[in-house]
Amino acid sequence: MTTLDGATVLVIGGAKNLGLAIATRADELGAHVVIGAREVDDARQAAAGLRDAQGVALDITDESSIASAISDIGRVDHVVSTAAAHHNVAVTDLEHDRVVTAFEAKVIGPLLLAKHLATVLPESGSFTLFSGVAAWNPSPGLSIMGITNGAVASAVTHLAAELAPIRVNAVSPGIIDSGTWDGMPEADRDALFVNASQNALAGRVGTAADVVDAVAWLWGAGYVSGETIHVEGGARHH
Ligand SMILES: NC(=O)c1ccc[n+]([C@@H]2O[C@H](COP(=O)([O-])OP(=O)(O)OC[C@H]3O[C@@H](n4cnc5c(N)ncnc54)[C@H](OP(=O)(O)O)[C@@H]3O)[C@@H](O)[C@H]2O)c1
Repeated sequence: MTTLDGATVLVIGGAKNLGLAIATRADELGAHVVIGAREVDDARQAAAGLRDAQGVALDITDESSIASAISDIGRVDHVVSTAAAHHNVAVTDLEHDRVVTAFEAKVIGPLLLAKHLATVLPESGSFTLFSGVAAWNPSPGLSIMGITNGAVASAVTHLAAELAPIRVNAVSPGIIDSGTWDGMPEADRDALFVNASQNALAGRVGTAADVVDAVAWLWGAGYVSGETIHVEGGARHH
């Protein structure tokens, strides 16, 4: 298992769900963890539950927020962004500003984050983004989620070349019982999970640990860059 003793790990979107699970694993592996969230109180509250962590305000759609958070943190070794702003509607119902925000959260924000990290991350550092299986399974009503996640897979190949030898990769989850679906009516959530289980070769939905294992592996995978790691139980191959 990768040891992160002496390393600092920034997790954007780290106050809840998959981001918090990633921050928790980094803390368990010995890192100093910085949780970035739009609301600094959320970040600080999540950090308070960890061994060695702090919370910072970081809105990935706002370059000045990115710049000031990176400057305040100072040294950072590994950065993970789970930020997402989905706009799941039929193409006939698209709203311009929500499309822009979706791209800002997943694509434009990470590009500007790369701009500010390029001179800060050490050569042994890494930058991990989040894609998602919707990119490879086109479905009416999910185009923006699919297109933004597809753009992430492309972005990491380019950013890996730009930031080399700093490694840049993406993790692409399938349907994960991460907490993000807990706000749905129970019957809808159950139906989603049954459908996702049937559409995965693994025959089940994913757990937060399935995804965190991939992120933690990437922290130590010194010869892996520009890749998208699919953690979706084989859903693209069903
Ligand atoms: N869970 C799944 O089934 C699944 C499947 C495929 C892909 N994924 C991807 O995996 C990632 C994590 O999933 P999740 O289930 O943990 O998603 P989530 O519950 O939607 O969490 C997304 C995180 O992004 C943060 N965020 C949103 N806008 C932000 C902004 N402008 N600046 C900074 N942070 C922002 C949110 O924080 P606040 O709202 O607190 O600010 C939240 O912590 C996402 O990128 C998602 O698209 C998940």
